[in-house]
Amino acid sequence: MKVDVAIVGGGPAGLLLARLLSRAGVETVVLERRSRDYVLSRIRAGVLEWGSAETLRQAGVGDRMDREGYVHDGAYLAAANTAFRVDFMKACGRSVMVYGQTEVTRDLYDALDRSGAVSIVHEAEDVRPQDIETEKPFVTYRKDGVDHRIDCQFVAGCDGFHGVCRQTIPQDVRKEYERVYPFGWLGVLSRTEPVSDELIYANHERGFALASMRNANLSRYYIQVPVNQKVESWSDDAFWDELRRRLPADSAEALETGPSVEKSIAPLRSFVSEPMRHGRLFLAGDASHIVPPTGAKGLNLAISDVRYLAEGLIQVIKDKDEHGIDIYSARALDRVWRAIHFSWWMTSMMHRFPDQTPFDQQVQEVELKRIRDSEAAQTLMAETYTGLPYDRGLQHLDTQV
Ligand code: APR
Ligand code: PHB
Repeated sequence: MKVDVAIVGGGPAGLLLARLLSRAGVETVVLERRSRDYVLSRIRAGVLEWGSAETLRQAGVGDRMDREGYVHDGAYLAAANTAFRVDFMKACGRSVMVYGQTEVTRDLYDALDRSGAVSIVHEAEDVRPQDIETEKPFVTYRKDGVDHRIDCQFVAGCDGFHGVCRQTIPQDVRKEYERVYPFGWLGVLSRTEPVSDELIYANHERGFALASMRNANLSRYYIQVPVNQKVESWSDDAFWDELRRRLPADSAEALETGPSVEKSIAPLRSFVSEPMRHGRLFLAGDASHIVPPTGAKGLNLAISDVRYLAEGLIQVIKDKDEHGIDIYSARALDRVWRAIHFSWWMTSMMHRFPDQTPFDQQVQEVELKRIRDSEAAQTLMAETYTGLPYDRGLQHLDTQV
């Protein structure tokens, strides 16, 4: 088989890249390790930057999002059981779209099925990008016991943090940065009415809590837990009791509880692997970087990477112009690092660290007061939370390209 671009990974990054490339007449194939049902069973984040929502609309997969998603013009930050609202629209003229990642993935699958333009191979085993440093890369994999080879012009590594593509870049070429946080998030999905019409991020001396939602009858809540805890040790009642302790008093009182339909613990880390290109292999999304979910940036970074990568690949395949792929890594990393910083800042401000002292708690609460009391501080936060512009010109890039 021969295609223009072989895409490894059928999560949001891989599927959106396949969608954008195929609509431009670029031949692709997606190689996904898991089954479609498994991919669609994952419960992940739920906040889309405005630019991400626009990207999905431009890709022709935004209709259901616009019907079923929720436009939020602000969010609440809370400390010591008292909340204040950050008005995104007032601060920076942008909103966010609350719409689950699972639904984005479902919409991408449906659109790719309807177009029939892209072959998606599920349960592809032992996928291996090869000869990526040559002008004739190829990818091998096994399916139902049969070995396959796909010759291509380029390989897109959209295979997430645990994928194979990042490891294909020689270790002495890769520069990796990591911070592992000493806590995780225990998340619960429940068929209950959300406690608030907008998200509530709560700093509390017992630990962080977040109130979010998927729709008017489906709530998504999180509480910070020690990193070594097992989800089995948390009954639903214990979760609801702890969430009540950490939310602002009026929300705690109004909280509707119910059986969890999904309950899981996710670790938190910040991670970046540079560069995002080696030869004819390009990394996009979690394959290259991971953010703690506090800033709701994971899916949005996957989307911005894919926008840049699709633009560059279409340019080189259709117009033989390599500029877009030459600047891809520097351009994507500039936005990645800004989101990495924002996610680290939100995580540091909102969570209780094991060695935290009363002084540290005070300093966190003062940082939240500074946001509450300063339009400039709210603008700075709102600009990044709702999504920085994709095209800030290239002059700001630290790497001369
Ligand atoms: N071969 C083929 N597919 C693979 C391999 C492999 N060796 N390893 C992983 N995959 C698949 C996974 O099964 C998954 O479906 O690659 C896909 C990667 O998808 P994600 O992990 O969702 O990453 P990405 O598409 O970059 O989306 C980022 O997903 O994990 C969340 O928080 C993250 O919201 C962010 C978003
Ligand atoms: C979610 O709804 O799952 C969600 C929302 C905001 C975050 C993280 C997760 O920062």
